[in-house]
Amino acid sequence: MDLSIKERLDNSKLPRHVAIIMDGNGRWAARHGSARIFGHEHGIEAVRSVIEGAGEVGIGYLTLYAFSTENWSRPREEVDGLMSLLVYAIDSETVNLMKNNVRLGVIGDMKMLPRRVREKLESCIEKLKDNTGLTVILAISYSAKWEITEAVKKMVSDATRERIDPSQITNELFESYLSTKGIPDPELLIRTSGEYRLSNFLLWQIAYAELYFTDILWPDFRKEDLFEALLNFQNRERRFGMTSEQIAG
Ligand code: FPP
Repeated sequence: MDLSIKERLDNSKLPRHVAIIMDGNGRWAARHGSARIFGHEHGIEAVRSVIEGAGEVGIGYLTLYAFSTENWSRPREEVDGLMSLLVYAIDSETVNLMKNNVRLGVIGDMKMLPRRVREKLESCIEKLKDNTGLTVILAISYSAKWEITEAVKKMVSDATRERIDPSQITNELFESYLSTKGIPDPELLIRTSGEYRLSNFLLWQIAYAELYFTDILWPDFRKEDLFEALLNFQNRERRFGMTSEQIAG
């Protein structure tokens, strides 16, 4: 009997953290002769399936790029639609997330968000805070350059107040100023829709991530596609700058 992709996964070789650039909602909508927001609405089904799948196999952290800093420049109607969709999705999914023992986190410039979105996020994070399974991190109003610039501002301010010594700055200290503080770096980054870009996402944190691109448009992506990406990840040799012989040894 053929094993399913999920059964072929080696549970001891799973990435602790998977990050996803959910792309292709607009093209999916166009293919269905609908407005872009229709694609985003269907994107929620993919989000639900992937969260379920990540929980089933025991991934620790799943970061989803839901809205970039640059997305604020989209037509007003689409931005408003996406904000309403976020509120709706959080509202309707909280019970399910609770049932699946999921914790929620958020990274991004929360000041930019409409109050109703911020408050909804905060209340959902609070409700799920004692869960112990998968942590889902939504990147909203997020960009890596924004995050790194913010980190530098805080560091310079702390150095000026003599809270840190510039000569003692290390990778680890810098990381403690990022919004992903305390979260392991993603080992696998997935981008859907056949685009080969990083789009200002987690640039510091993905220094050694494996990159996986698929042509599937985000609204069609399901947990089986996540398992396929995980299987592909497990068949790669991660060398971290060393040689194959060193890794084998
Ligand atoms: C990219 O597709 C997708 C987005 C900018 C938004 C992602 C949002 C969702 C999947 C829905 C809500 C999310 C959560 C976490 C509840 P695109 O619009 O750039 O597609 P295109 O490249 O085909 O135009």
